[in-house]
Amino acid sequence: MDRIAIEGGNPLFGDIPVSGAKNSAIKLMAASLLTSEPVRLTNMPRLADTRLLGRLLQRFGCGISESDGAQGQQTILHTPEITSAFAPYDLVRQMRASFNVLGPLLARTGHAKVSLPGGCTIGARPVDLHLKALEALGAHIDMHEGYVFAQAPRGLKGAEITFPFVSVGATEHALMAAVLARGTTVMHNSACEPEIVDLAECLNAMGARVSGAGTKTIVVEGVTSLRGTDWAVVCDRIEAGTYAVAAAMAGGEVRLTKVRPELIAALLDKLAEAGCEITHGENTVTIRRGEGRLRPVDLTTDVYPGFATDLQAQFMALMTLADGESVIRETIFENRFMHVPELGRLGADISVSGGEARVRGVERLRGAQVMATDLRASACLVIGGLAAEGETIVNRVYHLDRGFENLEGKLSACGANVRRLKGDAPVEEEE
Ligand code: UD1
Repeated sequence: MDRIAIEGGNPLFGDIPVSGAKNSAIKLMAASLLTSEPVRLTNMPRLADTRLLGRLLQRFGCGISESDGAQGQQTILHTPEITSAFAPYDLVRQMRASFNVLGPLLARTGHAKVSLPGGCTIGARPVDLHLKALEALGAHIDMHEGYVFAQAPRGLKGAEITFPFVSVGATEHALMAAVLARGTTVMHNSACEPEIVDLAECLNAMGARVSGAGTKTIVVEGVTSLRGTDWAVVCDRIEAGTYAVAAAMAGGEVRLTKVRPELIAALLDKLAEAGCEITHGENTVTIRRGEGRLRPVDLTTDVYPGFATDLQAQFMALMTLADGESVIRETIFENRFMHVPELGRLGADISVSGGEARVRGVERLRGAQVMATDLRASACLVIGGLAAEGETIVNRVYHLDRGFENLEGKLSACGANVRRLKGDAPVEEEE
């Protein structure tokens, strides 16, 4: 297993280009199943998760070709016919979002058999809202032995859906199923995340009729078929936010490029509150951290446009060195503080009670061996390592590879001392 070694203490100076959003790319890839024509996705991140989903889509008859074109990395997905509508446990368990192939398979063929997902170990993460939405659209759902069997032999039918609470995945799933349903679907209490807007706009470019994406109420007028399209994946606001926090942690001045600053406004406000200087252009954000300690800042995670749960761990790492106590509340996922003991190994002083963490800033962190527990937690350990004295080794980097493209390359280009240790080195884990 690969590891990442960080020698802390170097400030960061330079530009970091932000990649296309993982969380959008994988939904757009799934949406390509809705048409028999090719869909060309540009600004595609190359990640373990996109590769994994690609393998799953190929099982359904999707041809995939990747290349580096004039517009950067692109992937063409083409499914002239669905040759199988079966998603096995082995593939779905590795990435929860791959469960979202169920809706497109069902909408296109009238049936699907998809394993219940596994995914990150950040709480129970059920899919009940997804299934209720598909049932509302007229699907007949059965469950046996860990598999969902869904049928709609006469096609799906538009419906009124009210989500009892906001779910990104369920909103996207219902949207992908509703575009080919007969009649109108109205989705109340939908998630408003930018990745949902990206998906809806791509579907519209394919001939769908979706309005209201980015608001709580999404309306879908069903169409009988969709066509292929070219679509550029929206920038990854979580990757952007992670590097913004890294710059604040290490000090120096970093300019993020290919970013939409408004998508990380909640984070930038918190960084400014902590004492960073933030300036932005149309597609750039510059983060500058002067001398002296940062101020402690409290935060509560929330659905978009609130503070993203996927940036909570990174911001907590930053607060470990603030001049005082900050309180971080997690409201989206239970069990999303698994990075706390690992930050403790670097010398952080954090106590957790329920969904609330109290971070008492310390004067210095010291490098240590730590273990990545999930995707975003891994990023927080790298951030901790950037400011820790001596060497930090992050084990289980495969979590990072799921969502961060060339992390060590991007940080090294700004002067960080970050190296990947290839997998054959012995992994010293404490379990
Ligand atoms: C997506 C993102 C993830 C992000 C999260 C919240 C992707 C691939 N992942 O995850 O990075 O952290 O949004 O912004 O886009 N829930 C249920 N039943 C359901 C569905 C969800 O109880 O059927 C619960 C979840 O357990 C969680 C909450 O709802 O507590 C929010 O989850 P959701 O918004 O669905 O997150 P994901 O789509 O899984």
